[in-house]
Amino acid sequence: MKVLIIGANGQIGQILAHKLKKSNLHPVAMVRKAEQVDQFKSKDIETVVADLEEDFEYAYDGINAVVFAAGSGGHTGPDKTHLVDRLGAKKAIDLAVKKKVKHFTIVSALGADYNPSEWPDSMKHYYEAKADADKHLMQSGLNFTIVKPGRLTNDPGTNNITLGAEITKESDSIPRTDVATVLEKVIANQKAMNHSLELLSGSTPIDKAVEAL
Ligand SMILES: NC(=O)c1ccc[n+]([C@@H]2O[C@H](COP(=O)([O-])OP(=O)(O)OC[C@H]3O[C@@H](n4cnc5c(N)ncnc54)[C@H](OP(=O)(O)O)[C@@H]3O)[C@@H](O)[C@H]2O)c1
Repeated sequence: MKVLIIGANGQIGQILAHKLKKSNLHPVAMVRKAEQVDQFKSKDIETVVADLEEDFEYAYDGINAVVFAAGSGGHTGPDKTHLVDRLGAKKAIDLAVKKKVKHFTIVSALGADYNPSEWPDSMKHYYEAKADADKHLMQSGLNFTIVKPGRLTNDPGTNNITLGAEITKESDSIPRTDVATVLEKVIANQKAMNHSLELLSGSTPIDKAVEAL
């Protein structure tokens, strides 16, 4: 199964690409700059250079599943959040429908589906973009999984999480490597189909948490 990772040069995307390479799935790393290709090529990971702000339909050739792990990042303004996290994600979803992709997983954010009055002003545009993309995915007719992690860290993975539609928070963050492991485990997994999942570090091993969905 060929899995297109959109945002593969990102911190979660890179970890996921390397994890999938060691699995029975076939990752295709979508990066937006030619100079980002070598790090994947040197590990024998297929790449495609494409930008969410331009035409990227060609990136879907032969693709069976998509993981959208891209994001405009905290260093850019609301304009890029709109173009990447909202419009880029929605275009990626529409292309998945057109290309009959079997499963679409998106990295959203914990809180994106909360009451907007709970969003801090500085994050409003971000949560709005994430919520809009999530809604578009749920209404697309695709098999979907929405993964909504809390604050991301670069701490070593613990492999222990809390995962579910509405979780009781056992922590306030999660290492990116654990998010990548969850993404790996949900791809093409019937248990995870059509779920929107909050995710934080917790006390349940990842395999067990995914199996329990
Ligand atoms: N930070 C948090 O605490 C937090 C919490 C919950 C959810 N999230 C979400 O988690 C996701 C992944 O996080 P992360 O830390 O791995 O992000 P990251 O390191 O910032 O990676 C994002 C990736 O998206 C790519 N990208 C940006 N614009 C693009 C475009 N126009 N076309 C193609 N690719 C583009 C970037 O490309 P370049 O490498 O070329 O820049 C980068 O590789 C994001 O969606 C983020 O919103 C974050």
